[in-house]
Amino acid sequence: MSGRFITIEGIDGAGKSSHIAALAHWLRQHEVEVVLTREPGGTPLAESLRELFLHREMDALTEALLVFAARRDHLQRVIEPALARGATVVCDRFTDASFAYQGAGRGFDLVQLAQLEQWVQQGRHPDLTLWFDLPPLVAAQRRAAARDADRLEREDIAFFERVRAGYAARRDATPQRFARIDADQPREMVWQQIEAALAARRWW
Ligand code: TYD
Repeated sequence: MSGRFITIEGIDGAGKSSHIAALAHWLRQHEVEVVLTREPGGTPLAESLRELFLHREMDALTEALLVFAARRDHLQRVIEPALARGATVVCDRFTDASFAYQGAGRGFDLVQLAQLEQWVQQGRHPDLTLWFDLPPLVAAQRRAAARDADRLEREDIAFFERVRAGYAARRDATPQRFARIDADQPREMVWQQIEAALAARRWW
């Protein structure tokens, strides 16, 4: 019995983090084994690549190769073994982020990204993607209040408009996989949408 693979996506400042813990709690209450992880990252090697990715200057091809190298290690060591034993994997970002940030944001070739996706993932895709969507201006205000910016978070509003459009395009390509969460709402309203998306799947 394969477990479920859930990913969480959205532009920086969408408010994913606070809901990921609540999501894991909800699943555990339903007696599901949960593996909570993130990308880039999730293994010692991938976390090392994350540090480079977030803080060193590089071109879009290097970005794409780094995130997919990290993803390869993460899939092999964490995600695939967890799914094989029936656990539910909750991953803070996955390949939709590569299409949104490197593809739509940086303008990296989408066909080449799809080739990397196929090469690295061998047909593995999330079962459900919770896409936290909100206007980039609102997200920027939240980020400014919350923390020091890393390399990607310093990009301008136009960059995040493209990233947002990149997510929308991914959703439009496989709408059944996605649940769009209106993240420009009070926390409680955001959580209600997440709970509704989970309940609608009838998996637990
Ligand atoms: P994020 O997950 O938002 O972590 P934090 O909450 O600590 O800031 O940061 C990861 C950054 O990496 C984010 O700006 C999106 C970016 N990213 C890509 O550009 N491509 C990818 O494939 C992934 C997984 C992330």
